[in-house]
Amino acid sequence: MTRQRFSCVGRPAHRVDAADKVRGEARFLADLRFQGMWEAAVATPPVAHALVRRITIPPVDRAEGVAMVAADVPGINQIGIVQRDQPLLVSDRVRSAGDRLAIVAAPTRAAARALADAVSADLKPLPVVEDVRHAMSADAPSIHEGGNIVARLQVVRGDIDAAFAQADVIVEGEYRTGCQEHAYLEPQGAVAVPGVDGRMVVYSTCQCPFYVRRAVADVLGYPQSMVRVVQACTGGAFGGKEDYPSEVAACAALLATASGHPVRLVYDRAEDFRWSTKRHRTVITHRLAATSSGRMLGMQIEALYDAGAYAGLSVVVAERGNSSACGPYGLTAVDVHTTIVYTNGLFGGAFRGFGAPQVTFATERQVDELARRLAIDPVLLREMNLWRSGSVTASGEVLTGSVPVLQTLRRAVRAAGYRPRRLDTKHERVLRGVGVATSYYGSNLHKGGERHDRSHARVTINADGSVNVAVGLTEMGQGLLTAVAQIVAEELGVDKERVVVAHVDTDAVQDSGPTVASRGTIMAGMPTRRAAAALRLRMVRTVRREGIADADIRQGMVVSRSSGQVMTWDDLVGLCYAQRVEMSATGFYRPPPRPYDATTGQGRPYAVNSYTTHIAEVEVDEGTGLVRLVRVTAVHDVGRVIFPEGLRGQIEGGIVQGAGYALFESLVTRGGILHNPGFTDYVVPGIADTPHIRMEVIEQPWKGGPFGAKGIGEPSLIGVAAAIGNAVSDAVGVPVREIPLTPERVLWLLHDRQ
Ligand code: MTE
Ligand code: MOS
Repeated sequence: MTRQRFSCVGRPAHRVDAADKVRGEARFLADLRFQGMWEAAVATPPVAHALVRRITIPPVDRAEGVAMVAADVPGINQIGIVQRDQPLLVSDRVRSAGDRLAIVAAPTRAAARALADAVSADLKPLPVVEDVRHAMSADAPSIHEGGNIVARLQVVRGDIDAAFAQADVIVEGEYRTGCQEHAYLEPQGAVAVPGVDGRMVVYSTCQCPFYVRRAVADVLGYPQSMVRVVQACTGGAFGGKEDYPSEVAACAALLATASGHPVRLVYDRAEDFRWSTKRHRTVITHRLAATSSGRMLGMQIEALYDAGAYAGLSVVVAERGNSSACGPYGLTAVDVHTTIVYTNGLFGGAFRGFGAPQVTFATERQVDELARRLAIDPVLLREMNLWRSGSVTASGEVLTGSVPVLQTLRRAVRAAGYRPRRLDTKHERVLRGVGVATSYYGSNLHKGGERHDRSHARVTINADGSVNVAVGLTEMGQGLLTAVAQIVAEELGVDKERVVVAHVDTDAVQDSGPTVASRGTIMAGMPTRRAAAALRLRMVRTVRREGIADADIRQGMVVSRSSGQVMTWDDLVGLCYAQRVEMSATGFYRPPPRPYDATTGQGRPYAVNSYTTHIAEVEVDEGTGLVRLVRVTAVHDVGRVIFPEGLRGQIEGGIVQGAGYALFESLVTRGGILHNPGFTDYVVPGIADTPHIRMEVIEQPWKGGPFGAKGIGEPSLIGVAAAIGNAVSDAVGVPVREIPLTPERVLWLLHDRQ
């Protein structure tokens, strides 16, 4: 996959955390035990929208349990990460089925559950708002005082009316995408341990320990210095552990202060399904204007995001969907309007791709619809319109340097053998289709999140030659610890096995922002590389002072052109310690500032884009409506491969998770209450649903990433549902406008065909 210029980076590597995990020795949140630890539970309402007249707590002896309501919060009873619209504990109004009326703790889980069940509330139910269009209408009840609009965003450029007036063809469609559950194996949880020194130590399964620290400090009324958050080994996150863990940790911490005991709150699967965040449901109205020869002129898009009852991270999610709605296509005019809407439905949050999978589905389907209308091959149509160096984006950015999007398309077409071979199949009545989707994603935070966009790291070389690394970004299964170990080992010139990278501890490093937006490798890699480089320089200087003028460190050896191998790494470290050299260094990285105007969506929303083409091949059973995903080809522009096996895992995992999103995963709500809160009725892809996967990567190092790396975590999923939607449309001959493509929905499409 990569040129072998490096001794560590891009080389095959064992995952540093693999052995513990496969042996079952890794200690996830629910494996943690503390002396005298109590268990917590949450009392939630039976309805999703109501006025609260009274909440009654059962009497309980302090030795047997504690129960807390809103009035018992010593600090700020607010948990919303961007807007202060979400109380941690509600007192006057219920807006969602995941609201907390009371939280309790008791010595056992059963006792805690019983106590929570004994909490009663006198509620006056209100009409439930379930649909975004209804929520926006004048007759809908207001869920918050200011109405049901969380925020509006836009991207406007050029003369959109002129573009549509000039068009020979206009393709219009309304697209709908469903919610998606993250389905991480480990549910949400936190343990709060009151310290003897008056501090609160919180163990959390999370992506952003610094968010958790802020939330805990706020509800307790502590300065942040009095809260320490340690990331527990995290069993999957996918965006679902960006903001939500703050809620769980805040509850555990409040109950720990009230009871004086360490308190653990771990959700069961049904609670996790019901209360934690989901991928946003969207309704996207899309108009695409083009000439008869296939040149795209303009896109007019209205995207509605269902936030659920609180803002949470919805604006952050929609901001990315807003900026990338028009895809990687050159257009003369764009007019994108994104509206984030309150409902009493499921809580919208971050999920792999942040709004990009939704808009990519709509736009890529529209491109295929245009191809069908013009009778042009969808690949050719994309080739005509995709960005090149010098193209102007929807944000008005002139792309310079490498823009390898066309390359991803061409390589994917070649790798897939497009038009693909007809596959042998046992069934008659099988319709076959192939679909292409080209997508792009801004690596790292959107301009809107720039204030969080910095990171810190510390590298320490111990007297025995071993190396400790502390970073501010989290491992959640994606392989970050291994990638960082490789980067540090490469820079220091030692074996990766010498390097130990710790899970995040807020006491060890400065707030480095969230581990989201595929920024992990970039934002952990850059400061650790800088710290390692500083150490390496100090060590080399120490040897040079010994009279070896051209000494350098390579693969665990000090070498010099004149004297050959001078000493081992261990001897070098020994020498430095003997001379009392500082053997610990910090590194810091902040991407350079860039211009952006949020009112028009113009400027540079992202530091860099990464490009992808997915090609999906499907078989649709005409009798049952079942879609079999046969093969997916993925070609990614990744900048530089750091950890090849990790990269492969991300690409495969993204395809499978994207296939679930496109084909099966459906959350069923009635009156804002989730009716399928578990894996029996919420179907995620299993091994038998995994298609044959082909992948290729394009390596064109990007100067803003460590050794040139960009992110891969989310691009692996973003275009998958779009490619599958296009493949199913190709197979059934009817436009797909809604996902998931459950058998029932596919049968209706087939019905429409007749
Ligand atoms: N892979 C695994 N195994 N587990 C996860 O939770 N999260 C995804 C992606 N891949 C995730 C994953 C999401 S949403 C993001 S933003 C990136 O990994 C974060 O990691 P990175 O920035 O290091 O790529
Ligand atoms: Mo990923 S949705 O950016 O955590």
